[in-house]
Amino acid sequence: MIVLVTGCRSGFGLLTAVEAARRGHTVYAGLRDLDTADALVETAQGLDVTPVQLDVTSARDRDTVVAAIVEAHGRLDALVNNAGVALGGAMEQLDEDELRKVFDVNVLGLWALTKAVLPTMRAQGSGTIIQVSSVSGRMAMPGLGAYAASKFALEGMSEAWRHELKPFGIRMAVVEPGPFKTDIWGRNRALSRHALDPESPYAPMVQGLEAAVARIAQDRAEDPTVVSNHIADLLERPGPLPAQQVLGRAGWLRVGMKQVLPRPVLEWLVQRAIRPKAG
Ligand SMILES: NC(=O)c1ccc[n+]([C@@H]2O[C@H](COP(=O)([O-])OP(=O)(O)OC[C@H]3O[C@@H](n4cnc5c(N)ncnc54)[C@H](OP(=O)(O)O)[C@@H]3O)[C@@H](O)[C@H]2O)c1
Repeated sequence: MIVLVTGCRSGFGLLTAVEAARRGHTVYAGLRDLDTADALVETAQGLDVTPVQLDVTSARDRDTVVAAIVEAHGRLDALVNNAGVALGGAMEQLDEDELRKVFDVNVLGLWALTKAVLPTMRAQGSGTIIQVSSVSGRMAMPGLGAYAASKFALEGMSEAWRHELKPFGIRMAVVEPGPFKTDIWGRNRALSRHALDPESPYAPMVQGLEAAVARIAQDRAEDPTVVSNHIADLLERPGPLPAQQVLGRAGWLRVGMKQVLPRPVLEWLVQRAIRPKAG
């Protein structure tokens, strides 16, 4: 299978690229900046993984990568739309450029890359596209509205797209991880530029959120190979794929709570989770 994975500098992208190659597939691993391939190259030693320059927001990168793969192999069997960014901060605190950047990567970049691979998959009469969403695509938390909005958008787009692609033999599935230990909780953890402004009326909420995020990263984030193995399994599974799948215990808990708890109870729990702790 010829597989293209985006966002392979770290986390799920790196692990999925390596796992797919370990299973014998030919993998093109997209990097926002090709100079950051060190961890990938080291982990993928001896495997059929080719790092490629692919900032998903760049039309030139998208077109160049897809054209190169199709020229080399005459086909492209699977796309894993994994690249993504998160952003903390209350909705009112965001500047327009910050909200646009989240949507540029998580929604528009993903949409445009998918569009770029589809003519090849349609001509083949087959193809698999895995969309890496989040439990934040099912339930939005305060202070993470920009991220949740982008993942809700991804979910809506993918639900429609899955129907549209079915007649062409192309499968689309959305995976929705809860918290897993990747760089999104560390090196790539991002706050909006006004989030910690002490004058902001949201400062206590953001401080509460920061503490909650630190607790999640420390105590609840799970082993990310659960996600990469699951994605590799989906790529290889014959027949129709599940439309949406929550991954991880904490993810299931969050989605389960939204499904079963009365809304006032759920909202009380959320407010309590972000309340600054005394001392
Ligand atoms: N880890 C979790 O708890 C969790 C939970 C739910 C969903 N997710 C989703 O999982 C996906 C992967 O995230 P991760 O957890 O593995 O975090 P990560 O380690 O921070 O990986 C994110 C990857 O996306 C890349 N990226 C960012 N902007 C890009 C762009 N414009 N073009 C191409 N690549 C870009 C990053 O590259 P640079 O580092 O070079 O910027 C990095 O390789 C994301 O879509 C995220 O929303 C993660």
